[in-house]
Amino acid sequence: MTGGTSGQDYAARFADLARSGKDVHGEARFCTALVPAGARVLDAGCGTGRVMIRLAELGYDCVGVDLDASMLAVAQRQAPELPWFQADLAGFEPDALGVAADFDLVLAAGNVFPLLAAGTEATVVRRLAAALRPGGLLAAGFGLDEAHLPVPPGITLAEYDDCCAAAGLALIDRFATWDADPYDGGGYAVSVHRR
Ligand SMILES: C[S@@+](CC[C@H](N)C(=O)[O-])C[C@H]1O[C@@H](n2cnc3c(N)ncnc32)[C@H](O)[C@@H]1O
Repeated sequence: MTGGTSGQDYAARFADLARSGKDVHGEARFCTALVPAGARVLDAGCGTGRVMIRLAELGYDCVGVDLDASMLAVAQRQAPELPWFQADLAGFEPDALGVAADFDLVLAAGNVFPLLAAGTEATVVRRLAAALRPGGLLAAGFGLDEAHLPVPPGITLAEYDDCCAAAGLALIDRFATWDADPYDGGGYAVSVHRR
């Protein structure tokens, strides 16, 4: 997502889905079941702000970080009052951005992990874990096979769990969807780890 119009294309795709009656707020709803309104949420790889804007509407205290300027431009345009930062999650340092590293929840929705530069996954998990308060949660949903990914499959669940364990995060739940359907070994997983 480096082209000048990719953010607009991404936002347009979700706007079409919403118009056709599809539920586009599953991720935000999932977050509301994990932490109460008012909680601090880091939307890691926030893209166009699709999820974070909804969470902010529901009363969450949100910060969005993404690498892609065209995605962030859409987020900024749609919700200029919210804090959006352009940063690489592999080098994410909340302090450097003037952001307190005491998030209740870090969310990585929309295949952020498979889209990371290969080899940076462990570093990103470590950076995100360091942004959580003790007891805080990391929720990440991503595809595991060709059918659930726009890119070749990357990190496996076992590798992701290893990255989390190395960063001091324990797996507390895993689902097949953002609607919290039980995980059955399929090609998409939503994982929740606790610091
Ligand atoms: C498919 S989009 C998902 C956007 C949003 N989370 C959503 O669910 O609508 C994946 C996002 O991850 C971002 N991303 C990928 N690698 C990143 C990195 N190293 N640092 C920050 N953001 C990254 C991309 O720029 C992109 O906006």
